[in-house]
Amino acid sequence: MIKNYLKRTIEEKWALGHFNFSEDEALRAIVKSAAEFKTPIFVGTSEGERKHIGLKQAVNLVKAFREEFGIPIFLNADHHKSFDAVKEAVDAGYDAILADFSALPFEENIKLTKQSVEYAKSKNPDIIVEGELGYVRGESKIQKEIIEIKAEDLTKPEEAGQFVKETGVDMLAPAVGNIHGIVVSSPETIDIQRIGDIKKAVGENVYLVLHGGSGLSESDFKNAIEVGISMVHINTEIRVAFTKTLRKTLEEMPEETTPYKILMPSIEAMKKVIEEKLKIFGSVNKI
Ligand code: G3H
Ligand code: ZN
Repeated sequence: MIKNYLKRTIEEKWALGHFNFSEDEALRAIVKSAAEFKTPIFVGTSEGERKHIGLKQAVNLVKAFREEFGIPIFLNADHHKSFDAVKEAVDAGYDAILADFSALPFEENIKLTKQSVEYAKSKNPDIIVEGELGYVRGESKIQKEIIEIKAEDLTKPEEAGQFVKETGVDMLAPAVGNIHGIVVSSPETIDIQRIGDIKKAVGENVYLVLHGGSGLSESDFKNAIEVGISMVHINTEIRVAFTKTLRKTLEEMPEETTPYKILMPSIEAMKKVIEEKLKIFGSVNKI
């Protein structure tokens, strides 16, 4: 099922949205937006996010939302950086994993990613495994410091070809000038030519994922999709929408003590961001 959508992203030139959550409110905002827009959706938890919501809780909450809304929602173990963490997510029933060993030397990255693919597929032949190659700097927050991307951070197309062949991954997250977080002190320039070259090197059956989507422009997304991006990750922009609105609500309702009343405007603010992105990614009405 995931593979069918991935195939369609290339044939029809659109991208799946992947949004992170660590609590019910963000997940609710993502699912409601996706249901209203009739779009298949990826929801992801990093190791930290998964620790907050709970591994079993993440799997079962997504299951409950799937049943209630009747839309394809896929749960991804985002940026899992040890084999143990990957194993736990696979065993818990995640639909996809990002086995992220990009901080290790090339050969080590290949070895651990391959081990993750073999384990994941032995437990669930339908699971989707993503690998990461190159160095995507930053983290999902407002990045006030200057982030300098070095030439050696960027994914080399020929290495990407070798990486996917040797590991057997279904998807690849390349470093193409993208940065995690909203960068305020330095420009974030996406190397579109490089994305196209990497796509050619990995072939039509391996799908490319653009990380660090927050702060990128509409034309960045559209150009990236045009040359072969199949999925875009967004985290910081929904975190900012949540917290900014929460601060405002607390100021506006100093006497309010009912949590759901305080949280409601934040859900709406996150929905607005998500819906804007889904329109840009072109994934509306694809179910
Ligand atoms: O894996 C998560 C994403 O790459 C999020 O990046 O915080 O820049 O949107 P972002
Ligand atoms: Zn990422």
